[in-house]
Amino acid sequence: MSRSDAPAGTILETERLRLRRLEPGDLEALHALYSDPEIRRYFPEGVLTHAQTKAELDWFVAGDPDHPALGLWATVLKPGGEFIGRCGLLPGIVEGRPEVEVAYLIDKRHWRRGYGAEAAAALVRYGFDTLGLTRIIAFVDPANAASAATARKAGLALEREIALEGMRTAIYTIERRRDADETDSSS
Ligand SMILES: CC(C)(COP(=O)(O)OP(=O)(O)OC[C@H]1O[C@@H](n2cnc3c(N)ncnc32)[C@H](O)[C@@H]1OP(=O)(O)O)[C@@H](O)C(=O)NCCC(=O)NCCS
Repeated sequence: MSRSDAPAGTILETERLRLRRLEPGDLEALHALYSDPEIRRYFPEGVLTHAQTKAELDWFVAGDPDHPALGLWATVLKPGGEFIGRCGLLPGIVEGRPEVEVAYLIDKRHWRRGYGAEAAAALVRYGFDTLGLTRIIAFVDPANAASAATARKAGLALEREIALEGMRTAIYTIERRRDADETDSSS
């Protein structure tokens, strides 16, 4: 978790990862991931151009004015800071209900080393403990076994499937346990 002596821009730390604010200098590393058809296989919009990647990066560098505590964050290895992906918590509306989504994307050169699950689990803890969220969801293409397994490893469970922009999408969810945020004054 984030510590007071962590480098500036740190959102949270895990044993092996640091999630920090995205910076303009992340553009080429981010574009290398966003332009890779294998990494972007399950994104409805597919690969992004350099200009599209820059527009998205600019948005997250500036921060969402309506949700400044949320965002996508550079996911870097400790201690050297190698950029291996971007993960975060994003606002959205699903069937009329405001939700916060945990999002994860890791460089394929680093897949299956536990980084995706490590980041996702840390984001869930951060969302509940630091941001005070009560519910976090993940959108999962039912064909994306890696995404479903990552959501499950972070404690989310399949809630339902919906049609999202014409695509069948599984909604995984986790809710903060009530006893985690209540003092035991009722018993
Ligand atoms: C989803 C993603 C972040 C997982 O990252 P990762 O670092 O490889 O994940 P982990 O090593 O932490 O593995 C987490 C779980 O997923 C499973 N997993 C990983 N890749 C898998 C694959 N290709 N097929 C099936 N399961 C897979 C792991 O086995 C593990 O589950 P287990 O411990 O129960 O076996 C990564 O595959 C990715 O970035 N994909 C492209 C972007 C994407 O599709 N993001 C999600 C949708 S928006």
